[in-house]
Amino acid sequence: MKKKIGLVGAGNIGGTLALLAAQKKLGDVLLLDVAPGLPQGKALDLCQMGATNCFEPIISGSNNMADLKGCNVVIITAGLPRKPGMRRDDLLKTNSEIIGKIALDVKKYCPDAFVIVVTNPLDAMVWHFQKVSGLPSHKVVGMAGILDSSRFEMFLAQELNTSIQSVSATVLGGHGDTMVPLLAHSYVGGISLESLVKQGYLSQQRLDEIVERTRKGGGEIVSLLKNGSAFYAPAASAILMAESYLHDLKLTLPCAAHLTGQYGVDDLYVGVPIIIGANGVEKIIEYQLNTQEKTMLDNSVQAVQDLVNSLKNLSN
Ligand code: LAC
Repeated sequence: MKKKIGLVGAGNIGGTLALLAAQKKLGDVLLLDVAPGLPQGKALDLCQMGATNCFEPIISGSNNMADLKGCNVVIITAGLPRKPGMRRDDLLKTNSEIIGKIALDVKKYCPDAFVIVVTNPLDAMVWHFQKVSGLPSHKVVGMAGILDSSRFEMFLAQELNTSIQSVSATVLGGHGDTMVPLLAHSYVGGISLESLVKQGYLSQQRLDEIVERTRKGGGEIVSLLKNGSAFYAPAASAILMAESYLHDLKLTLPCAAHLTGQYGVDDLYVGVPIIIGANGVEKIIEYQLNTQEKTMLDNSVQAVQDLVNSLKNLSN
């Protein structure tokens, strides 16, 4: 049966998600937004690409959340993006109100959907969505680790003048300044980053700079755009998660998943490697982290915990 993908938020990421979902023929696409005309206009424009891009017009736009009925996948990007100088955490209050409302609508209209949250501050928003909606946690995930890892991979490929296909790098932890680009579990041409430094292919200083640039990767784009945040790579990352679910690909991907003891974390959403298949989150993979990685991850988990605590205080 044909699948239906609901995109809540028809901003820059929402529009790009619709384009990619249509081009990859993932199913019918529904763009939803509170702004009258915005999802309808983008949907119409995208449908008119069908003739030259060889897809049937399967994209519609709506302001009515009841149209979520029948969605197999819901990707949520609604909420405010950062302005230059803002941290993702500065969006906590406004975006948690938006996410709370959407969570109730998803629960009402498509409780069986696989939900991917993209809205920032990501780890707190996906936690909030799951708590408010009550959807099973293996069907609610957050998109961030794939994006952060893609940025890390791109910077490494550029630095080492190699194809991005030869780089396999992973970023774990919260989607914020404390995120954890792994050095012992990231590889270029099969050689770990630690070994690349030891063998003299990459200086420690350049590696440190790349790690720092990765951590600030979203902010770099916000400062350049001045009015909005990144959208092409975030959309591509969320679509990969949707594909893995819809096509039961069982890809291992770094995503914000609900932890219940893994990595020593309980009842928080944090970026870790997971397998996504037809049953949603089918497995949470636990890496054997070295002391340095473990310390950085603990630090990142604490930042997520602080954010979730602020969120809890907001609702008290
Ligand atoms: C970024 C936003 C999507 O990292 O969080 O660009």
